[in-house]
Amino acid sequence: MKVLLNERQLQQGVDRLAAEISAAWGPRPMTMIGVLNGCIVFIADLIRRLKMPVRIELIQASSYRGQTTRGPLRLAADRQLEIRGRHVLLVDDILDTGHTLAALQNRLREAGAASVRTAVLLRKAGCQEVEIHADFVGFELPDQFVVGYGLDYRDQLRNLPYLAAMEPDDFPPAGQQNTFSGG
Ligand code: IMP
Ligand code: MG
Repeated sequence: MKVLLNERQLQQGVDRLAAEISAAWGPRPMTMIGVLNGCIVFIADLIRRLKMPVRIELIQASSYRGQTTRGPLRLAADRQLEIRGRHVLLVDDILDTGHTLAALQNRLREAGAASVRTAVLLRKAGCQEVEIHADFVGFELPDQFVVGYGLDYRDQLRNLPYLAAMEPDDFPPAGQQNTFSGG
């Protein structure tokens, strides 16, 4: 694995994002909706840097990935989000194809949010398959599979304190790759 962003760089990125969000948002209350599971480390760091009143909700979204490619998106449909009339910040770890955030943005608007803005720690340049705008982006990355700081490979490695790119040798041999990963 190759370290792309060390702990200090990640913290500086979150500082920068929190300042940008605060300047754009002002003092009005925020309903933050974090996309599980990848968002956990990022939002833990982000919320402690925000000064406006913040409510936090979490929503589960996951896609099957054989190795590192996406499959059908699954959203947990069972939960009623209390967001009618509220100003929402949707927060995810990474914007890749954009299918996850596009689907969630629609769902939040349907649920009556007064406004929906989106923050992501990472955006993979040139990978978006659907038209989607992220209002706040921490870091731009080239198209590569990354792990750590909440992001997983087959549900592992979320606990790395830095962000690393997987290299060819890090993947298991063909035939051993069909496990579920998501979030
Ligand atoms: P999208 O719907 O393709 O934009 O996928 C977004 C979701 O896929 C993210 O919330 C992540 O959970 C996952 N994902 C996309 N790229 C990566 C990656 O490089 N490492 C780990 N997870 C990823
Ligand atoms: Mg995710």
